[in-house]
Amino acid sequence: TQTLLRLLTCGSVDDGKSTLIGRLLADTGALPEDVLEQLARDSRRFGTQGEALDYALLLDGLEAEREQGITIDVAYRYFATPARAFIVADCPGHEQYTRNMATGASTAELAIVLVDAGKGLLRQTRRHSYICALMGIRQVLLAVNKMDRVDYAEARFAAIARDYATLAARLGITQVTAMPLAAVHGDNLVQRSARMPWYHGPSLLEALHAATPQALSPAAPLCLPVQWVNRPHADFRGYCGTLAAGRVRVGDAVSVWPAGLRATVARVLDAGRDVHQAEAGAAVTLSLVEACDIARGDVIAAANAPPEVADQFACHLLWMSEAPLLPGRPYELRLGSARALAQVTEIRHKIDVDTQDALPARTLRLNEVGCCQLSLDQALAFAPYAHSRALGGFVLIDRISHATVGAGMIDFALRRASNIHWQHVDVNRAARAAQNGQRPRCLWFTGLSGSGKSTLANAVEKRLFALGHHTYLLDGDNVRHGLNRDLGFTAEDRVENIRRVAEVARLMVDAGLIVLVAFISPFRAERRMARERFGADEFVEVFVDAPLAVCEARDVKGLYAKARAGRLSNFTGVDSPYEPPEQPEVHLHSDQDALEAMIEVVVRRVLAG
Ligand code: ADX
Repeated sequence: TQTLLRLLTCGSVDDGKSTLIGRLLADTGALPEDVLEQLARDSRRFGTQGEALDYALLLDGLEAEREQGITIDVAYRYFATPARAFIVADCPGHEQYTRNMATGASTAELAIVLVDAGKGLLRQTRRHSYICALMGIRQVLLAVNKMDRVDYAEARFAAIARDYATLAARLGITQVTAMPLAAVHGDNLVQRSARMPWYHGPSLLEALHAATPQALSPAAPLCLPVQWVNRPHADFRGYCGTLAAGRVRVGDAVSVWPAGLRATVARVLDAGRDVHQAEAGAAVTLSLVEACDIARGDVIAAANAPPEVADQFACHLLWMSEAPLLPGRPYELRLGSARALAQVTEIRHKIDVDTQDALPARTLRLNEVGCCQLSLDQALAFAPYAHSRALGGFVLIDRISHATVGAGMIDFALRRASNIHWQHVDVNRAARAAQNGQRPRCLWFTGLSGSGKSTLANAVEKRLFALGHHTYLLDGDNVRHGLNRDLGFTAEDRVENIRRVAEVARLMVDAGLIVLVAFISPFRAERRMARERFGADEFVEVFVDAPLAVCEARDVKGLYAKARAGRLSNFTGVDSPYEPPEQPEVHLHSDQDALEAMIEVVVRRVLAG
């Protein structure tokens, strides 16, 4: 039977990548007759190879589209020989497509790294090789192309191979096969070339046959991430997924994570039919003897080889979004089919992708890689990425735009919270609320600077206090003098500002108080994070709405004038955004409503129910 090898090509059009792939496809018979005929016609009209076929024309159309920003995806191409089938992820060469390359590399077992013999290793070669290593590729075929331009000189080839060996060793790429090519002429591509008699190694296609496909070793312990639970009727509950490692047999003792349940395999179904066993790579359904509560995202493992379980990790993170990473903001994390909310709690450093130097950083921008610490809202079963792509690779998703913003690789678990337990306390939240004779709440006032948040919150507190309630007012300007005096007004700092104040407000609500929070809190994501710290009707978002022009005309503190004059940067409404609430509990128009009326609305809302 044919084995399958997934590979990735790195390099740009200039390195001869399109020619190389085009020729491999043509020479292995992957191209239908009509495509070849079209290629012959195009080659005569537009080709750069005289009478010969210009294989680059097969793929250059795609590259041109990418340059115009039409497609920036990864193109997957397929070819096969009697012994092996190949899937090639063809990724665009330019720097701005690092994220596409990472996508292609994440499933590849081997990379062909193209280098122009005339140019040697370039910045791009280092960048691509680093991303390959980061995404877990350990086998590289170094294709030193365009040997015809350097007179097939052995010394030139040897020097490039040596340079690359040094780089590969530093990156942890353990298997490198270097080969001299002239892809336009087909030298060493399929057959070995007579023009380089000094070279005794394999042709590119031979090397592709000799490469070891990533071991989906049946000998490894069983690992099945549950993709969904199939419950056609009350008597059957099947756990479906692709076996990431190992084999499973009827009667096997298994464990289920993160819960740590023990169970026995009752049935193994492959394509709907009962089988005795199944191996890594198979899509299976298992049923268990015991009735277990197992959900999508859980991991079924061999009883004697459980995965790790943790809620804090050290990881490498590749940022894939135009909007920079904001530490402290909750993103949706997807690890296999498991989901959690994750915050980057610390960026240890970012990594210069060209030199691998560690640099200090407070955020990550598009295509940057950072070494980060991550904190999840729940524990997940995982493995370090170096051991398992299935259990160690994850993506981060923006909760508002739903875009994929980051790709991560787990390095190891951080155990700092594992020895800290929740201390049981006898005087609890309900008791404190009862003694205060009120329903504790968090009133969250949001709006532009000058919208009247502080004035209103202050007046509301006064009214509640007069009615005998226990209250506390947290005001942005005041908290920034103490707890948050280390924070400024960049997006990162605003996220942290709100995170801290939301935590404080939660403690105060827990203490039985009605807490009033008056912060600009310009971002939806952080107001949502604050909301999620509270029970369903404990959180009341009050949007103090006034047109920017009105706030600016008031300019009580003279800050708008300063911002317009360019003496104050990141000022909300001027050069930093304000994202208005979509569904606030209370929406006030402070430019139209009388203060007294607004107080009345808010107080009534707080004391209701
Ligand atoms: S928030 O955006 O992080 O929620 P916060 O409410 O704490 O802001 O602080 C806002 C107050 O800081 C404003 O009322 C204003 O007095 C002051 N301030 C100083 N610089 C800025 C700025 N660049 N943007 C907004 N407010 C600023």
